[in-house]
Amino acid sequence: MTGQSGRESGASDTFDTTATAPSSAMQQGASSSPRTESQDDPARAMDRMYRMTRHIYDVTRRYYLLGRDRMLERVATDDGSATLEVGCGTARNLIKLAKRPHCGNLYGLDASHEMLETAAASIRKAGVGEITLRQGLAEQLDARTMFDREEGFDTIFFSYCLSMVPAWEGAIEAALANLKPGGQMVIVDFWDQADLPGWFAAGLKKWLALFHVFYRPDVHTALATLGTSGRAEVTFESVSKRYAYIAIVRKK
Ligand SMILES: C[S@@+](CC[C@H](N)C(=O)[O-])C[C@H]1O[C@@H](n2cnc3c(N)ncnc32)[C@H](O)[C@@H]1O
Repeated sequence: MTGQSGRESGASDTFDTTATAPSSAMQQGASSSPRTESQDDPARAMDRMYRMTRHIYDVTRRYYLLGRDRMLERVATDDGSATLEVGCGTARNLIKLAKRPHCGNLYGLDASHEMLETAAASIRKAGVGEITLRQGLAEQLDARTMFDREEGFDTIFFSYCLSMVPAWEGAIEAALANLKPGGQMVIVDFWDQADLPGWFAAGLKKWLALFHVFYRPDVHTALATLGTSGRAEVTFESVSKRYAYIAIVRKK
């Protein structure tokens, strides 16, 4: 069962959140590519970080993960659409999408088994339709092997996830590779706080580092470069005086 130590991380585990089958929620699926334990294993690191805090995550994060609802407004869904959140955490965002009358097919990927347990419980509690959850790493995203999708996704979004992923370049490339042509990647994450007082920006960066969260100017630069590369159209918008940014990357 998930949520216990000794699990093989790096595997693609299945979290069945079908609302009509609560007793079978969170069956662990077939795993692949088991890895040896290592302090550097990103999935184990995330499990350690969220083992306790996942229980208070949604209540506490609402005050500083700004712009998430605005980001969701940029995510278009319809009955046939396929939308994936990478680093879905407690599924707070996916549940909001699932409450739309035309939400299409919703998927969540997260490194942390612990977070996915909370996500599965929250989805059942919310009484929304099925959201398919898988354990795995952003940088290893593969629509076919992880989600049984040949076609890729219409939208892949990252909400305060890339700032936690050391392999962020791989995560962006994997998302692009798993989007349909014309599909879009939507990102909300910490920006440079350049329009806020210096003491605030410095304090925030120190505090975020305690949680392994880093403002990465290189991510912003890489996204801007994508926009000039001919591979995608990229637009940015500021949230609360550059506290955060929302990037929309439309794959050509
Ligand atoms: C700050 S939380 C944000 C959760 C959610 N997106 C939200 O907006 O509430 C970041 C999430 O990214 C996940 N994560 C971190 N590194 C990851 C990786 N390499 N691959 C997939 N998920 C990752 C963490 O486990 C965590 O659930």
